Amino acid sequence: MLKNKKILLAVSGSIAAYKSAFLVRLLVKEGADVRVVLSDAAISFVTPLTLGTLSKNPVVTSFVDDDNGTWNNHVELGLWADAMIIAPATAKTLSGMANGYCENLLLACYLSAKCPVFFAPAMDLDMFKHPSTTENISKLVSIGNTLIPAGKGELASGLEGEGRMAEPEEIIVQMQEYFKSLSNGKRVVITAGPTFEQIDPVRFIGNRSTGKMGYAIAEVMANKGYSVSLISGPSTIEVPEGIAEFISVESAAEMFNAAVGLSHEADICILAAAVADYTPTQVAEEKVKKSEGDWSIDLKSTKDILAYIGSNKKPNQVVVGFALETQNEEANAMGKLERKNADLIVLNSLRKAGAGFGHDTNQVTFFTKAGKQNEFPLKSKLAVAKDIVLFIENELI
Ligand code: CTP
Repeated sequence: MLKNKKILLAVSGSIAAYKSAFLVRLLVKEGADVRVVLSDAAISFVTPLTLGTLSKNPVVTSFVDDDNGTWNNHVELGLWADAMIIAPATAKTLSGMANGYCENLLLACYLSAKCPVFFAPAMDLDMFKHPSTTENISKLVSIGNTLIPAGKGELASGLEGEGRMAEPEEIIVQMQEYFKSLSNGKRVVITAGPTFEQIDPVRFIGNRSTGKMGYAIAEVMANKGYSVSLISGPSTIEVPEGIAEFISVESAAEMFNAAVGLSHEADICILAAAVADYTPTQVAEEKVKKSEGDWSIDLKSTKDILAYIGSNKKPNQVVVGFALETQNEEANAMGKLERKNADLIVLNSLRKAGAGFGHDTNQVTFFTKAGKQNEFPLKSKLAVAKDIVLFIENELI
């Protein structure tokens, strides 16, 4: 959940600052990209070297680096972060935050941050209970910051009571819940499986798609809390648990109507179906009887669902398509991305053993407007679905 999330950790001067080393270690272990800003007072409790080594990034402490005279840009740091955690947040730092008192780089970063800010108070129990502190905390919450509640227990002063900084593990859980909550309520439309184009009451034109890839994406997204509408052509796969809506269709025209209808309200559209490009011009009402000569069927083009949704994309809507290619794979994938105005094209090559229709595995490469992105090894379709969803979350929403 925290993979590739950009976390700005601000540490102020309290004995609880030692916990920040554990917090950085856990954040990095979760895959987060961590930058640390220390207040002057915090340096007495935990060194920049410790946190720099654990975070694998330089730690900043003041507006200007004494060593080389470099300006540490607080605005850039504030804009960089997906989330800012202030832990420990001392009484003095809370007061600076609540009153916009830009005394040091840490507070300047806080004032510049555009991302959600979480703060974990740490202080002695009487300071914590003081009306000034209570008022500062209330004000910080009322202006949109999130409190990571202090715990009760033995304090550095030897007193017992409230004021202990939350444990790093608790902070990690709160961050995971926050990032998970971002997906909650986001609406996703997924098309999957083949379409069957009717010739007469017993015959149709179809393809070998099973729907496994689209169903796997639906499963992964439902598990993450997205509200998933799965539109599926004929398939024998079990409908994934937890999806909001399942719509069974047969033809390309039915799939087009269902997908386009739902796309107006969707945040993310993932068009994974193998939609027939052509459909019979006329459907015979009765079964066509065998006759002596050959039989030919007139076909007309179907409407391209991905191209329609891509060219009518709403602001901030993410549109993802697939490309199944046997030659000039990269050029064709990029061509599809541009023609259909998709944000991401997932290329699966039929030339790779184990990839494509019917298999439980797939081998994919991602293409965005910036060109070729990740090329993955052969993986289970569920693992590929997780890669796709992570890429959408990290790069596209
Ligand atoms: N697609 C669609 N509606 C169609 C045809 C395709 O939504 N009528 C979507 C597919 O779901 C997929 C993408 O377009 O996400 C690419 O499909 P593909 O069959 O590889 O490409 P085509 O556009 O059909 O082109 P070609 O067959 O020439 O490769």
